[in-house]
Amino acid sequence: MSDNYKEKFENVKNAKGIYQWIDTRIPILSLINNTVGKGYYAPKNLSYLWNFGVLAFLSLLVQIVTGVLLAMHYKPDTRYAFESVEIIMRDVNYGWLLRYTHAVGASMFFSVLYVHIFRGMYYGSYKNPRELLWFTGVVLYIMVMASGFLGYVLPWGQMSFWGATVITSVVSAIPFVGDAFVVWVWGGYSVDDPTLNRFFVLHFLIPILIAGMSMLHVVGLHQFGSNNPVGIEVEKKDKIPFYPYYIVKDMVTVVLFFLVLFLFVFFAPNYLGHPDNYIEADPLVTPMHIVPEWYFLPFYAILRAIPNKLGGVIAMLGALFIWFVLPWLDFSKIKSGRYRPYFRSAFCIFIANFFFLMWLGGQPAEEPYITLSRLAVVLYFAHFLVILPLISKYEKPCYLPDSIND
Ligand code: HEM
Repeated sequence: MSDNYKEKFENVKNAKGIYQWIDTRIPILSLINNTVGKGYYAPKNLSYLWNFGVLAFLSLLVQIVTGVLLAMHYKPDTRYAFESVEIIMRDVNYGWLLRYTHAVGASMFFSVLYVHIFRGMYYGSYKNPRELLWFTGVVLYIMVMASGFLGYVLPWGQMSFWGATVITSVVSAIPFVGDAFVVWVWGGYSVDDPTLNRFFVLHFLIPILIAGMSMLHVVGLHQFGSNNPVGIEVEKKDKIPFYPYYIVKDMVTVVLFFLVLFLFVFFAPNYLGHPDNYIEADPLVTPMHIVPEWYFLPFYAILRAIPNKLGGVIAMLGALFIWFVLPWLDFSKIKSGRYRPYFRSAFCIFIANFFFLMWLGGQPAEEPYITLSRLAVVLYFAHFLVILPLISKYEKPCYLPDSIND
């Protein structure tokens, strides 16, 4: 027997109390302690912006719990889907609460993620040695987007049907195989019953994969610990235990999260939705304006800005996939935007442009919105491909402290 093996048996023999009895057999309690307890140390200067990772977890949990309960009453069949949602709203006990919490919860999830992502961008959290952590984050964002898109199709309203038709048709832009591919995606010659069924299965499956991917994200986080507002790597003396300090701080935003969620659920549950989705899907009647949910609008604006269909698809996917290479486009050694005057200005313009694109995505596809969208798309890509590399090369950073105490 190896020493390590013997030691484990010794530990089991000497275990005192229920904690050690469990932990010497399956070390789950020490894993929790080393992840979110006294055993994990985080920089002492983290601001409230560092609470949004935990809020992303909370959003995922809310979506999974309400989603599983909704799935017990929902019917993924084009003949009954719309009606089953109405039954959930009117006849199932607290069904309206489940549905509204799930729908508003999706918007909360994206709001939390956008803050989480932009926080990472501003403080350079994607830089060496956290490139792969950032990478897992971008994968998570794409998975959340996929799940959100698939979920919106399920109520089988007009926007569900036409949104799904517009976005899946995009696949047909792929040269040579596009038309065959879109038939394969639909499971037929239009968005129909097989499409709804497979979208339901995937909408259910992806959040489980998101949960697994989030674990990998946290493993990546714990390899070097959190970055911080100053952006320099910190020593043990500048860290404090996660429990109680950050657990208590996280509770503040957890309460605020539920406050905002339920303000919408109880007082404006349909504010972020589209009224057309209360009309059952009709393949013979196209809505005046087909618009996706607000959180997809920047990417939708990019898709529509390019006159060529294939070009639009490439630009839309490129706008997202460029995030993967961000650590190499912004190669300045200084992480935090606090000490980078030019970067800070560029970042503010980037955020303003992102929200401008979001607004443009909700406008009809006509002038002047088309020209404005094209300008915004050029600025979006210039930020990554021209502005960031140039700033990284020529910017003179401000004085950087030696430690976070300085
Ligand atoms: C389901 C989605 C996600 C979950 C559950 C999640 C969870 C977390 C948690 C708990 C942390 C530590 C606390 C914090 O720094 O806020 C964290 C950190 C981080 N996340 Fe995420 N995250 C998600 C999505 C993303 C996305 C979409 C990105 C980027 C595209 C991202 C990039 C990062 C980075 C770079 C850090 C380290 C931040 C730092 O140390 O400054 N995450 N994440």
